[in-house]
Amino acid sequence: MNIILLGPPGAGKGTQAHHLVATRDMIQLSTGDMLREAKESGTEMGKRVAEVMARGELVTDEIVIGLIREKLEGDRHGGFIFDGFPRTLPQADALGQLLEEEGMQLDAVIEMQVDDEALVDRITARATCAGCGEVYNDNTKPIPADGVCTKCGEAHEFTRRADDNEEALRNRLMEYYKKTSPLIGYYYAKDMLSTINGLGTVEDVRASIAGVLKG
Ligand code: AP5
Ligand code: ZN
Repeated sequence: MNIILLGPPGAGKGTQAHHLVATRDMIQLSTGDMLREAKESGTEMGKRVAEVMARGELVTDEIVIGLIREKLEGDRHGGFIFDGFPRTLPQADALGQLLEEEGMQLDAVIEMQVDDEALVDRITARATCAGCGEVYNDNTKPIPADGVCTKCGEAHEFTRRADDNEEALRNRLMEYYKKTSPLIGYYYAKDMLSTINGLGTVEDVRASIAGVLKG
């Protein structure tokens, strides 16, 4: 099964993708994570990408489509979860074409709706385990007092993202409404869109996603 998790920054795409990876043997393809890895590589491309991301703007279609193309050629396990991709109409067209070339199809596009106020609250409270990528939240899932990650069981640093500040977040939201939200109509017209309320607890949202994937 191949699915897209579509939603604004902080909607909970990564959190829900991690759960699907753990329970359904699916593979998470997060272009945000891939781009942050490119940034760590210290290459010229990585440095350019880091500047664009820190401002909260979108990286070029060419770069992200290239990253996804490489991954689709690898192992498939229980299918792919596209997290943060596609983000523009050209990326959506490219994904359709790539899946067709690989003999795969898209099974569901799940739009996670969360209002802007909650997004700002969630993002400014986010922290991530530098060891395993487990996502924490100062309000709803605090960093363990003993500093030991509940997922990997190790005492790694808990990091805050460079683009999790108010100014970058404003740009990220603008980019979402301008360039990504047209995908809602795009997939609705293909009869693939399911919209869920992303505002409940993590467990509520899990249950909504499970409901879509059964149907
Ligand atoms: P990316 O890494 O994709 O970030 P994003 O879309 O802004 O989404 P986030 O990772 O911020 O949020 P999320 O929905 O995963 O929420 P999470 O689960 O962490 O992209 C970053 C940048 O990379 C972009 O700005 C762009 O520059 C570039 N980029 C990436 N892909 C690109 C593409 N395809 N094209 C061009 N450029 C691209 O949750 C957030 C917080 O809320 C956490 O603390 C979590 O614990 C908490 N939380 C989650 N669910 C709940 C809940 N139900 N209740 C309460 N708290 C919750
Ligand atoms: Zn960890």
